[in-house]
Amino acid sequence: MTILDGKKVSADIKAEIKADVDKMKQRGEKVPHLAAVIVGNDGASLTYVGSKVRACEQVGFESTLIKLSSTISEIELLDKIHQLNKDENIDGFIVQLPLPKQIDTQKVLMQIDPDKDVDGFHPTNFGKMALDMTTFIPATPFGILELLERYNVETKGKHTVVIGRSHIVGRPMSILMGRKGFPGNSTVTLTHSHTKNITQITSQADIIITALGVPNYLKAEMVKDDAVIIDVGITRVPDEDHPKGYVITGDVDFENVSKKVSYITPVPGGVGPMTISMLLKNTLLAREQHRFKKGL
Ligand code: GUN
Repeated sequence: MTILDGKKVSADIKAEIKADVDKMKQRGEKVPHLAAVIVGNDGASLTYVGSKVRACEQVGFESTLIKLSSTISEIELLDKIHQLNKDENIDGFIVQLPLPKQIDTQKVLMQIDPDKDVDGFHPTNFGKMALDMTTFIPATPFGILELLERYNVETKGKHTVVIGRSHIVGRPMSILMGRKGFPGNSTVTLTHSHTKNITQITSQADIIITALGVPNYLKAEMVKDDAVIIDVGITRVPDEDHPKGYVITGDVDFENVSKKVSYITPVPGGVGPMTISMLLKNTLLAREQHRFKKGL
């Protein structure tokens, strides 16, 4: 069994990006600038956004964190987005999800300039992704592809089962694994809350990508020998023995599942760190595209 070490691969990618940024600086070019908008005080969201901003500092990007009140109106948030769209200094930005109830998420995502949409959530970019065109691929699916590629995990002709159909992970992942090329060329089954006999489906899978958010959901008896397991779950489970009062737990019963599979991602240290590095990669791409557009 091989651990797909997202922490290590993510550090490698950050080092590669930093080398690119150092070259940009030597040439006297502007470095990439990422902005992150966070609405409200959700602890997990604040942690994730904090990690994204710290990662920018590590690779030499500029970053701007915009914290907005949980009571902000939709109009005020849209106003902020229009400002960021217009701001020549900012190459890409994200609006951390979930958003408070009074705000229509789709309406907000639709207003982000697709050229600055480094999360790849705008319908234009999602459509381009589905059509195999160059675009910003959502960071978590992009990170999973990168892990499979760097560990040379065979995906061609394999049966990939995706658990969960979220717009951020499950749905794009199901499209990407079926694309031509590597990683891809898989036969994909997308399962969700209405799927019947899930164990029958998962136990036939060569590759399982689970993005459900239910701790320890995937048990050893649901998995065939030598399968490849990608765990996207990151649920905070209360634990008084831990200084933070919780532990981050994945969707996979790692202790038992890891004994019978060929590759598996740990939680933490698997997909999570990859997501951040791929957001940086998308921001670097945004910078290059803006420079190209301006003919510099
Ligand atoms: N919330 C959970 N994952 C993500 C992500 O990848 N991007 C944004 N913007 N919000 C998220």
